Amino acid sequence: MTAYLNGEFLPLSEARISPLDRGFLFGDGAYEVIPVYSRHPFRVDEHLRRLQASLDGIRLPNPYGVDEWRAIILRLVADADFADQTVYIQITRGADSKRDQPFPKDVPPTVFLFTAPLVAPSPTQRESGVAAITAQDIRWGRCDLKTVALLANVLTRQLAVDAGCTETIMLRDGFLTEGSASNIFCVKDGVILAPPKDHRMLPGITYDIVLELAAKHGAPHAVRPISETELLLADEVWMTSSTKEVLGITTLDGRSVGRADYLGKPGPVTRRMHAWYSEFRDEVMRKTDA
Ligand code: PDD
Repeated sequence: MTAYLNGEFLPLSEARISPLDRGFLFGDGAYEVIPVYSRHPFRVDEHLRRLQASLDGIRLPNPYGVDEWRAIILRLVADADFADQTVYIQITRGADSKRDQPFPKDVPPTVFLFTAPLVAPSPTQRESGVAAITAQDIRWGRCDLKTVALLANVLTRQLAVDAGCTETIMLRDGFLTEGSASNIFCVKDGVILAPPKDHRMLPGITYDIVLELAAKHGAPHAVRPISETELLLADEVWMTSSTKEVLGITTLDGRSVGRADYLGKPGPVTRRMHAWYSEFRDEVMRKTDA
């Protein structure tokens, strides 16, 4: 598998960084995950804009301009042995000669990218949806920044794995924030509900697409705080991310989500949104081909 490290393309197995790298010592860095379909990166500009926002948020100068990022991404994507991919980008505040918290002076950032095969939900997961649990959101106050300091997400996600589930939906002060690696939507009486973007959640690229699609197709929707009770009593719940796209959550805290006529399956609004999403993604990819 090919990787990119600080100006060089090399096999992933040969990529080496210093143990004094601040990403390793402090989680001092930002990252992105970009899905690639048939060697076409999807929504790159949006991902690069969010990367810029994350870097600005942690006061780390962006080492490259958009064109340089694009060139690196395209070369990695072209060199891969697989067509559907996820490109991972990570930038840290580099490796100093000592371990000290303040920003180091004159230390170049560490820039690391690699591409891996895209792991999409299985046909069974698509057909039946997945199970999730709820847990308290124990993360810091800037969840809008995509930083590599993901310990709270890791611990929270492991709770789901321990319970035989796919995702953990986090709640802060009695309100839905997001999943450990996804944004969460729910549906009540035909209205799609999404929590507002603020410092408590990552502004998902897929989240934006879903709201754009809801608007385009005239689907009733509202962006507003969602209480724990509303989440637990929702007719439908789904998660969104660049790799999962729109994926139904059909079991929550061990109970079936939704109404008797579609129990154990994603509900009608979830299915429709997933179909709109797939259609939109395929259309964008066709245009990129042209
Ligand atoms: N995760 N919220 C969190 C905490 C996330 O980690 C992610 C994505 C999302 C969804 O964002 P997007 O639609 O832009 O992928 C929301 C990626 C896929 C990851 O860390 O692997």
